[in-house]
Amino acid sequence: MVAPTSHAIAEAARRLAAGELVAFPTETVYGLGADAANPDAVRQVFLTKGRPADHPLIVHVADAADVEHWAMPVDEPARRLMAHFWPGPLTLILPRRPTVSDAVTGGQDTVGVRCPSHPVAQALLRAARRLGVMGVAAPSANRFGRISPTRAAHVRSEFGQQVPCVLDGGASHVGIESTIVDLSRDTPAILRPGQISAAALSAVLGVPLTGNDSGAMSTEGPATPRVSGSLAAHYAPGTMLQLVPAQELAKRLQQLHAAGQQVALWSPTEPSTPVMHWRQAPTDVDAYARELYATLRELDGLASDVIVLEAPPSAPAWAGVRDRLRRAVAGSGQMPSGEGLGQG
Ligand code: TXA
Ligand code: MG
Repeated sequence: MVAPTSHAIAEAARRLAAGELVAFPTETVYGLGADAANPDAVRQVFLTKGRPADHPLIVHVADAADVEHWAMPVDEPARRLMAHFWPGPLTLILPRRPTVSDAVTGGQDTVGVRCPSHPVAQALLRAARRLGVMGVAAPSANRFGRISPTRAAHVRSEFGQQVPCVLDGGASHVGIESTIVDLSRDTPAILRPGQISAAALSAVLGVPLTGNDSGAMSTEGPATPRVSGSLAAHYAPGTMLQLVPAQELAKRLQQLHAAGQQVALWSPTEPSTPVMHWRQAPTDVDAYARELYATLRELDGLASDVIVLEAPPSAPAWAGVRDRLRRAVAGSGQMPSGEGLGQG
């Protein structure tokens, strides 16, 4: 882990240009980056993460003009969204240029592009561009299926010295992955909800978006792109995770207590039943999203029998959070506590 001095950023850019991997902060989560034009480097990302090779990666660019290197055509709806939301937590799925490597796109005829706003990501992308790297392919810097990292220390605990270069840009302030909008089809569709909402997107595009702001999208059918973040089980802690509606929480905690279960709880109000550990959950969605992954890691590390989360509100603004929680629940409890977080 290294402080993002201009020297460290230049060194990280040099590594990218040499085909090495660099972990770097973005405003959403930390990414594990490689030169998107170097298929061997991109394959190294898949190997390091343990990610199936047919799951495409997002290409990160320094500014909107660089999208032309990867996508064609870049038409009016894409230009509008880029002008409005970039740099920021929005990924666009666009028709790819034929030159884009299958290693990046998973063999699809589209490419995902994003311009992150984090100043360290921006500095790195610009420094790499000066060395001829026109885009950095980067998934979240976690092992496949596990909790995404929002701090440099999380990346270190996922990969250890397997990824020697980790730029430390502090805590990611959005905290959940970018909203993904597919503009390659007849109608724009949300593939992954995030901080930028369906309402905000359709206000800029002037048309409603398909896909589901609640995050419940189909993963079936040949026309559906493969989105690893759309697998039912993802973003998961090793400890069993339960989402409990607010009105049922007191009763569930009593039942768990009676059964002798050690509970780690994240809820807005302090429980009346004793628990092993209680952490106060924010009631503001942005603060909740910002703390979500670090909190899941912390609670997972306590070796409780179960992690209990009070289910968040059903308002549209919480769609991204609800989506991640649903997948975390589906994938939780499959490994001994803590093990899923990568030791070393
Ligand atoms: O906020 C983010 O998007 C973070 C930071 C690092 O930028 N990145 C991230 O990457 O979440 P990853 O690989 O963990 O998730 C990217 C998602 C995957 O589910 C992938 O399948 C989808 O984007 N994706 C990428 N290219 C695609 C394409 N051409 N068509 C459909 N989905 C695509
Ligand atoms: Mg990911």
